[in-house]
Amino acid sequence: NLGVINIPVYVHVVYSNSQQNISDAQIASQMKVLNDDFRKQNSDASNTPSEFAGRAADSEITFTLAGTFRHSNSRAEWGTNNAVKQAYPPVTPQTHLNIWVANIGGGILGYAQFPGGALSTDGVVCAPQYFGTTGYVEAPFNGGRTMTHEVGHYLNLRHIWGDGRCRQDDFVADTPSSDAPNYGCPSYPTVNCRSNDMTMNYMDYTNDACMSMFSEGQKTRMRAIFQTGGARASMIN
Ligand code: ARG
Ligand code: ZN
Ligand code: CA
Repeated sequence: NLGVINIPVYVHVVYSNSQQNISDAQIASQMKVLNDDFRKQNSDASNTPSEFAGRAADSEITFTLAGTFRHSNSRAEWGTNNAVKQAYPPVTPQTHLNIWVANIGGGILGYAQFPGGALSTDGVVCAPQYFGTTGYVEAPFNGGRTMTHEVGHYLNLRHIWGDGRCRQDDFVADTPSSDAPNYGCPSYPTVNCRSNDMTMNYMDYTNDACMSMFSEGQKTRMRAIFQTGGARASMIN
């Protein structure tokens, strides 16, 4: 049992206009959401239906802002091919979560690298208008949950539907099988693959206001990477 795991965070703000040069307050608002969601301190935890509330986990992972780097760059869109990481490399990714706040384009909210990938591209990219809860934010993704979702990937979580049909696993036993993402704000119950979907899970594709939990199984999967021999064990040693 590793107890509460704290992850130090570097934020790289890459902007082509002043709006994208988000404020320290906006960054702080995102840090608060990450800490609330990963410790089940989110005020909307009570929205989780009773069928799933007993499996909603305090992941015992916290995040501390260790530094912010700001870079002006004329490039308006960075895509999803790690170009922004090549322009501004991660700082000590062995021990720090690196986050790039940069316009991705194409309606993409964010993307992440799973554990075990190249250090030079390790971390999470998020578009500024989907980062945090105050400042330059855009509904319905103004609840900071894009980062909760992306950090879930960074900590080895798959999408709740396993990116495939009913039999495709997300490698987590206590998340019900589903065959596709849910969008918007689905009513409960939403039935797929003969069971109720966990549409309020952070690893679905629902609106920020309609997500409220990680499961105990997801917690176990995330924390496994910090154990001896795990892909992110170096972060806590
Ligand atoms: N589409 C992105 C991904 O698959 C993020 C989705 C985030 N959803 C949200 N409600 N903020 O990584
Ligand atoms: Zn995703
Ligand atoms: Ca599952």
